[in-house]
Amino acid sequence: MSDSIRAGDAPIAVDVTEGKRYFWCACGKSASQPFCDGSHKGSGISPLAYLALEDKKVFFCACKQSQTPPLCDGSHKA
Ligand code: FES
Ligand code: FES
Repeated sequence: MSDSIRAGDAPIAVDVTEGKRYFWCACGKSASQPFCDGSHKGSGISPLAYLALEDKKVFFCACKQSQTPPLCDGSHKA
């Protein structure tokens, strides 16, 4: 995403819970990756909500370059 900073070079695996909403850090500044901790304030970037439709392991993008955020699409290899 434009103006975001790279928070990692590989996706972060998270076991999500059905029906729970997660707020993915789009700016890269959060200290609790891959989720938003409010550090985006003043950056013009907002977190992206992700609703888990089932219990499963999800790979959230940490590099912030994914074309399918909040999930990793392999773009971190570029
Ligand atoms: Fe990055 Fe909130 S801290 S979007
Ligand atoms: Fe960002 Fe994989 S970690 S695309």
